[in-house]
Amino acid sequence: MDRTAQLTARVTGRGIAYDRPSTAPSATSLHVRAARVLAANWTGTSTVPSRYLYPHQWSWDSAFIAIGLRHLSPLRAQTELETLLAAQWGDGRVPHIVFSPSVPLDAYFPSPDFWRSSTAGRAAGAPRTVQTSGIVQPPVHALAAWLVHRADPGLSRARGFLARVYPRLAAWHRYLLRRRDLGGGGLVSVVHPWEQGMDNSPCWDGPLARVTPAPACSFRRADLVHGAPEDRPTDLDYGRYVRLAADYRDGEYAEGDGEFAVEDPAFNALLIASEHALARIAAELGSPGTARHARAERLTAALVERLWDDASGMFLCRDLRGGMIRERSVSGLVPLLLPGLPREPAGALVGTLRGPHFAARTGLVPSYDLRGPAFESNRYWRGPAWFNTAWLVERGLRAHGEKAAAGALRTAFLRAAGDSGFAEYVDPDTGEACGAPGFGWTAALTLDLLHDMDGAMETGEEGGDRG
Ligand code: SER
Repeated sequence: MDRTAQLTARVTGRGIAYDRPSTAPSATSLHVRAARVLAANWTGTSTVPSRYLYPHQWSWDSAFIAIGLRHLSPLRAQTELETLLAAQWGDGRVPHIVFSPSVPLDAYFPSPDFWRSSTAGRAAGAPRTVQTSGIVQPPVHALAAWLVHRADPGLSRARGFLARVYPRLAAWHRYLLRRRDLGGGGLVSVVHPWEQGMDNSPCWDGPLARVTPAPACSFRRADLVHGAPEDRPTDLDYGRYVRLAADYRDGEYAEGDGEFAVEDPAFNALLIASEHALARIAAELGSPGTARHARAERLTAALVERLWDDASGMFLCRDLRGGMIRERSVSGLVPLLLPGLPREPAGALVGTLRGPHFAARTGLVPSYDLRGPAFESNRYWRGPAWFNTAWLVERGLRAHGEKAAAGALRTAFLRAAGDSGFAEYVDPDTGEACGAPGFGWTAALTLDLLHDMDGAMETGEEGGDRG
């Protein structure tokens, strides 16, 4: 792991003083450095999150990466999404990993021989020619497709980009809305912590405690070859991830009574933002998007009804087998992204961001409650600040008129991304680089923030071209 590119910072109370502010990289060099990361991670048809730790294509990574890539090459950004969607299953699911056949099996675990998509996933319509995982990740894709289109509408129309991706994106949302409303309240559930994307968040400790771990001798982790053990999930967590994934696979990836079923605020908020984007895509293609906007509004109401917690001033996760999960995670702040979020929860979220649970010294947003009992400043999703969630919160602050707070978060993001060598995640108080260096979405979203000063993203139903 690269710990050479740390921030040199003196922590002063709740603020931070940088010892070398004048040597901070200029916007131009940051742009060039971010572009280099994306060039190094580009495979010819998609972008790996990291050459070492994650050497295949990941679903939500690709969506975030496309959002940044559109500023460098709209064609590459379109290709990124097209490659991912080409691996879609017949039932509509977009797999969380699309495996590269040229990467050795032992370079990443779980590998294609664990997921066995083309056999175990046959009934669910897994593709025959490409190997994938059988679980999903947050649906950022329609949002990404819309933003990629907007970067170069001429090229997009000439290539028929939206016309080709629209049916696949619509099938993806249909899968989630019809097959994954496991709680019956209108929201989508995830059936594995890797689906929600914040793998080892303390939110999952309760639900995971019910899962009997797979024996340690039954699998070999590849992540520890490239990642520091103190930055990564524990072996006990891995045993439980493996058990859940193997059980799902052994049930041929059918939705059923798995031990893990959680309604998560970020996953559902991203679905809502993407449903609004899909409405815009439909309108661009000549059909009315009104029904989709209306569905997104209903989903927003369900999100508030089922996951809002007044006492915490944020959204919480709901464990379908155990009730509300009383842990504060950045996931519960992500719905700020929605311009259509009612005024009261939106205002409370802004207050929570400024409060003691989330106001980190770098100005970034920690992945978990700074005062929470399970907080660890460097371990994966148990405290470190990630750049995709910072980008979502920054957009959310802008959407709700919090320009100064959005500007401060943007500055903190760009400084930490550059100084950490585009790390996968950083210590929220010191900015110390953690996880993989040269991480795809960190570089991509840096580019997006450098380009899109006003945050004109059109994530919701306001201020946009309603279909
Ligand atoms: N994020 C997971 C990992 O760490 C899987 O998607 O490998």
